Amino acid sequence: MRTVLVASSKGGAGKTTVATNLAAWFALDGKHTALLDADRQHSATRWAEKRAGMDTAVLPIDGTRRGWEGRLPSDIQRLVIDAAAGDMAGELEAVLAKADAVLVPVNPSMIDLEATVPFLNSLAAHPRVKKGKLPVALVGNRLKPWTSASQQAMGQLKAWPYPVVAELRDTQAYVLMVALGKSVFDYRSEQIRGHQDDWAPLLKWLRKVL
Ligand SMILES: Nc1ncnc2c1ncn2[C@@H]1O[C@H](COP(=O)(O)OP(=O)(O)O)[C@@H](O)[C@H]1O
Ligand SMILES: [Mg+2]
Repeated sequence: MRTVLVASSKGGAGKTTVATNLAAWFALDGKHTALLDADRQHSATRWAEKRAGMDTAVLPIDGTRRGWEGRLPSDIQRLVIDAAAGDMAGELEAVLAKADAVLVPVNPSMIDLEATVPFLNSLAAHPRVKKGKLPVALVGNRLKPWTSASQQAMGQLKAWPYPVVAELRDTQAYVLMVALGKSVFDYRSEQIRGHQDDWAPLLKWLRKVL
């Protein structure tokens, strides 16, 4: 089993959006996939429940209850963890000990960038991250690439000591799809394909580190 943790202490950064789309991609790639929902709001669980009837269903696991490891079927090949807002590395210790990669979504605003720094610092202090055993990457999310605010924020993000592995644009498609139990990878239209392309460097990075 390979485990990807999607985390940021900042609420609204796009953890659930990134975690659900990534889980769908793994499932569409033919992997038995589970989504551990560590957030008490359970948005990721509702998403997986809506997907339950599909061939590419993703198994939701309640990460807010103790003993979730025991509820994980042994045939799961990919585990995506949707962390709760507010959790710093300390609270994430149990999953940081086991994860194979960490993705940190960040919105392109000064407030979001500044709010993410303490979380990244807490990650950087983790022994597995320090030793290079746990790769961490940043995901720019809700970009409006034509605005100078987005461009400046991405410039700053790229100066941080972790690679920026995707620049996901702001689109209602993500809002609508999460509500339907879908992902950008479930659609074939020209417009959605453009958004799939935004994920290409992230998926390439994961192939390398997993
Ligand atoms: N790329 C995007 N484009 C448009 N809306 C987005 C995008 N990413 C996230 N959102 C919306 O922003 C809100 C917060 O995203 P969410 O994934 O729930 O963040 P988190 O799980 O970190 O709190 C949700 O309403 C979500 O639908
Ligand atoms: Mg969430």
